[in-house]
Amino acid sequence: MKRHYDTVIIGGGIIGSAIAYHLSKEKQKTALFESGTIGGKTTSAAAGMLGAHAECEARDAFFDFAMYSQRLYQALGAELNERSGIDIRRHNGGMYKLAFSEEDVARLRQMDDLDSVSWHTKEEVLENEPYTSKEIAGASLIKADVHVEPFYVCKAYAKAARLSGTELYEHTSVTEIKRDGDAVCITTTAGEVYADHVVVASGVWSGQFFKQLGLNQAFFPVKGECLSVWNDDFPLTKTLYHDHCYIVPRKSGRLVVGATMKPGDWSDKPELGGLESVMQKAKTMLPAIQYMKVDRFWAGLRPGTGDGKPYIGRHPEDSRILFAAGHFRNGILLAPATGEVICDLVMDRKFNQKWIDAFRIDRKEAVQA
Ligand code: FAD
Ligand code: GLY
Repeated sequence: MKRHYDTVIIGGGIIGSAIAYHLSKEKQKTALFESGTIGGKTTSAAAGMLGAHAECEARDAFFDFAMYSQRLYQALGAELNERSGIDIRRHNGGMYKLAFSEEDVARLRQMDDLDSVSWHTKEEVLENEPYTSKEIAGASLIKADVHVEPFYVCKAYAKAARLSGTELYEHTSVTEIKRDGDAVCITTTAGEVYADHVVVASGVWSGQFFKQLGLNQAFFPVKGECLSVWNDDFPLTKTLYHDHCYIVPRKSGRLVVGATMKPGDWSDKPELGGLESVMQKAKTMLPAIQYMKVDRFWAGLRPGTGDGKPYIGRHPEDSRILFAAGHFRNGILLAPATGEVICDLVMDRKFNQKWIDAFRIDRKEAVQA
């Protein structure tokens, strides 16, 4: 007998898992196929900053969406803990976005009017975080840009979905999506299944399905190299951030330090040169980091798109096929809102049209020349 689902999700990173969770709450009969293990790819490489203010320069639809998703995280930790028993390890210290030059100060002070942002002088920063570099000119304190541990968020979403009936298939790749007939046919390495809806949430590997389905959107990896160190002697409570580099203090005492930006590199092995450049930037922010013991190093592939924004929405010609991919630097932050949007589209409910338009697959900024 052929297996039929309401929805099939391709990819068990944080995006696919968040979608599975939302659909499971709607009692949708859902299967999720993951070619490796849940959360094992880009999701587990991420630092986990919910950097709506730190990462968004323009006050556009993307910023609204990021702020909305950041707010959803406020209740998410307790909700996922109750449903899955997994703690997402939220750390509430917030972030200092550091200024080293007058130009930095001018740029950062444009955020002063935002609710959770306040300007701190050099003296105030050093009083709160005494080991920060003495070369700074001041910093924006961003209370809302806290961080979580991405692997645990992803596992919590997936487990909560499974406990509500979602079928999770690890080590099972999807190779083809066929659009003939009433239901969509999905070929996996374990056989064919059918579904009313299919959601492509395969991170940077989603490009193959776009092509298969006649779409030509830009899709490429932007490799990020990171390392972590053990910090026993130099207390740090806030994330330090400057020039796309960050030092994120985990509850365990580890500091996560990242990350390079290498477009087009498909290897997930870190290189010494990349790690060295990350270390240099980290020392600029926190000189004492040079004395800390190395824990480990790694790299992950951010799913890059033509305009740096994700593709979230329906196939332009077939509403049974949906995409949730290309979250680039902010997939951890954007997972809760993405899960909600895709669930509403599957359920044919109305959602914020501004966001639907901003992330639609066929927006002109997203299509390759
Ligand atoms: P993935 O986690 O890659 O999941 C996709 C899954 O699909 C994979 O598990 C893969 O195995 C599976 N898959 C692929 N092809 C198939 C197939 N054919 N069949 C079945 N399964 C398939 N974001 C933040 O918000 N905050 C941060 O602080 C942050 N820091 C980052 C630091 C680094 C170094 C990097 C690299 C990224 C960072 N990001 C951060 C970005 C974030 O990690 C990504 O945007 C996010 O993980 C994307 O999630 P995803 O589920 O789309 O992709
Ligand atoms: N958002 C942090 C990174 O992508 O490195």
